Amino acid sequence: MYPQTVIEHYQTIFGEEPTIVVRAPGRINLIGEHTDYNGGYVLPAAIDKAIWFAAGPRQDTRLSFFALDLADNIEVDLHQIRQQAHKTWANYLLGVISELHKDGLKTEGLNLVFGGDVPLGAGLSSSAAVESGMGHLLNEMLHIGFSKMDIVQLAQRAENNFVGMQCGIMDMFASVMGKKKHVVRLDCRSLEYEYFPFETNEYTIVLCNSGVKHALVDSEYNVRRQEAEQGVAIMKEQLPGIKTLRDVSPEQFEQQAHRLPEVVYRRCKYVIQEIRRVEVACEALKSGDLVTFGQLMYQTHEGLQHDYEVSCPELDFLVDCTREFNRVSSVPQAVLGSRMMGGGFGGCSINLVRKTALSGFLTYMKAAFEANWNRELVCHEVNLTDGVATVHITEPILQPK
Ligand code: GLA
Repeated sequence: MYPQTVIEHYQTIFGEEPTIVVRAPGRINLIGEHTDYNGGYVLPAAIDKAIWFAAGPRQDTRLSFFALDLADNIEVDLHQIRQQAHKTWANYLLGVISELHKDGLKTEGLNLVFGGDVPLGAGLSSSAAVESGMGHLLNEMLHIGFSKMDIVQLAQRAENNFVGMQCGIMDMFASVMGKKKHVVRLDCRSLEYEYFPFETNEYTIVLCNSGVKHALVDSEYNVRRQEAEQGVAIMKEQLPGIKTLRDVSPEQFEQQAHRLPEVVYRRCKYVIQEIRRVEVACEALKSGDLVTFGQLMYQTHEGLQHDYEVSCPELDFLVDCTREFNRVSSVPQAVLGSRMMGGGFGGCSINLVRKTALSGFLTYMKAAFEANWNRELVCHEVNLTDGVATVHITEPILQPK
């Protein structure tokens, strides 16, 4: 359906051809959750679910945006950009322009249609895809000369400063820097990154959508950040060199444990363990040991469920079901790993499933979920793709109908 749909709507709405078409993918994260804003490692990838944009310049200073999936539009002057209380979707676009203005850069009037197939509120970072795609699009149209990492940081600033969600860098990084058939380990302290091939004939990545929209995530997410910062502040009194939890070794942490309030202790314990887990997981990946990799995913879930407390009953149920499926499946090691993914409080679980067990897995999970929660379980098998890019459309699509 995409990108033809966005182009056709652009033609219909604005009566001309778009000058640029952009694809911005959603993301998954194999391991390394709630580590990005703690200076740790993450291991995300861009996926074959994306937001598409069709855009073109205007002669005046108006910004005319159309959100295809919401059938909603907005028109504002680029010199009067404000947060939108009702059309909140527009903040992801306006925020990027607002941040460019803060940099002292001039922007121009813009016509834009966007839409895609990244499920909303499912923890696949549709918002980061919108911000990253917008950053790329403006960088191209206005010849700003930003590097990919500049676009990542621009998108993050839009989210932090304009949307008001204090997210880390992972989602935008994955959307922009994704590489086909690879995952990428980002060191969120140094911003160094390394790609790892993630292609296996035996296993596939399946997302199970709990259907719980992570409405709580913004406020609770910010609380988790504060708790981690509180832990750092207390430990800093005796460990003056530390800036984030990344700088605290497991040994140092055990020595500090008695000084931390119980909840802060559990939050910090999870993060410090998770940072280490990503390193071990990458070693396992390098040596082709997906069994170990999967066990680490299960450990991550335990930590997120009990120590970081960002899971929800539906996600815990989905992860437990995979253990049960492994017991009853005739296929050995049918599911290697399963855990909740992203900010938490809803969204998807991510599962590493043996291809020969895939149809049995889907049948089992859907039946179990429906029996327990009385609603349908939507699952997505995902492939890993390249990050944000301009799409060069072949001529026939651009012909007026
Ligand atoms: C959300 C945030 C990310 C990251 C994850 C948890 O997706 O946007 O920056 O913190 O949660 O790993």
